[in-house]
Amino acid sequence: MDLQGATALVTGSNRGLGVHFATQLVSRGAKVYATARRPELVDIPGVEVLALDIVDQASVARAASIATDVDVLINNAAFTDGGNLVTGDLDSIRAVMDSNYYGALYMVRAFAPILARNGGGAILNVLSAAAWNTVDGNSAYAAAKSAEWGLTNAVRMELAGQGTQVSALIPGLIATQTLKDFIAAQGMVLPDGAMTDPADLARLALDGLEAGEVEILDAMGAAAKASLVGPPRAFDLSDIAAA
Ligand SMILES: NC(=O)c1ccc[n+]([C@@H]2O[C@H](COP(=O)([O-])OP(=O)(O)OC[C@H]3O[C@@H](n4cnc5c(N)ncnc54)[C@H](OP(=O)(O)O)[C@@H]3O)[C@@H](O)[C@H]2O)c1
Repeated sequence: MDLQGATALVTGSNRGLGVHFATQLVSRGAKVYATARRPELVDIPGVEVLALDIVDQASVARAASIATDVDVLINNAAFTDGGNLVTGDLDSIRAVMDSNYYGALYMVRAFAPILARNGGGAILNVLSAAAWNTVDGNSAYAAAKSAEWGLTNAVRMELAGQGTQVSALIPGLIATQTLKDFIAAQGMVLPDGAMTDPADLARLALDGLEAGEVEILDAMGAAAKASLVGPPRAFDLSDIAAA
């Protein structure tokens, strides 16, 4: 998938990893719809800003009626703090599933016909190593990302016939404010290098997308996948903190 001359839509472009996706797509020569549920917070030169709340189907339909030239969909936006499944707040647990699973699904369903009309194109779903190694303190998120991994694999199969490349980015820890706040709330201090710089991760992801990779993994994502041959295990943040 050549990003030069492509038309990309990025969800959650107002902060975190989404800003880097939108910025780097512009640098690679793509037209970019930088979307956010609070579009007034998007501040990226060279993009078209669009309001989009991925869990609101009317908002998704509105974006799809405007961005009809999209051939690359980056499903990046997510609400990531659901707490633990047994003791956490049920509304937060539902909100995490709504955004990570149903939000991605609404986007795929709305944009699959657009991608087909525009030659097939590509979808990149931003998952997490937490899909494979759960996280104590945020197991609701890990379970939602596991569901989104299943969704990604299913959609890849379902859209193969229309020539849509469906890729997953599966990172470990990304140095965005959201993760830094989570780590601080857990009372941890991570060593230098434990978190990937979001600009580096966006570059890895876009290189992988251009190369046609189905799963794009950073080091922690690759370790989490390798661990699947053994018994299920947790994503051991305390091990990293102690290292
Ligand atoms: N940070 C990590 O360590 C890490 C690790 C692995 C995977 N990931 C994944 O990487 C992606 C980006 O993470 P991040 O750290 O950059 O997150 P972030 O800084 O918390 O940003 C999340 C973005 O998603 C948007 N968003 C949330 N719900 C939305 C909705 N219903 N509609 C539209 N936008 C919505 C947020 O908008 P508002 O500003 O309006 O809330 C924000 O722009 C996520 O899919 C996350 O699961 C993150």
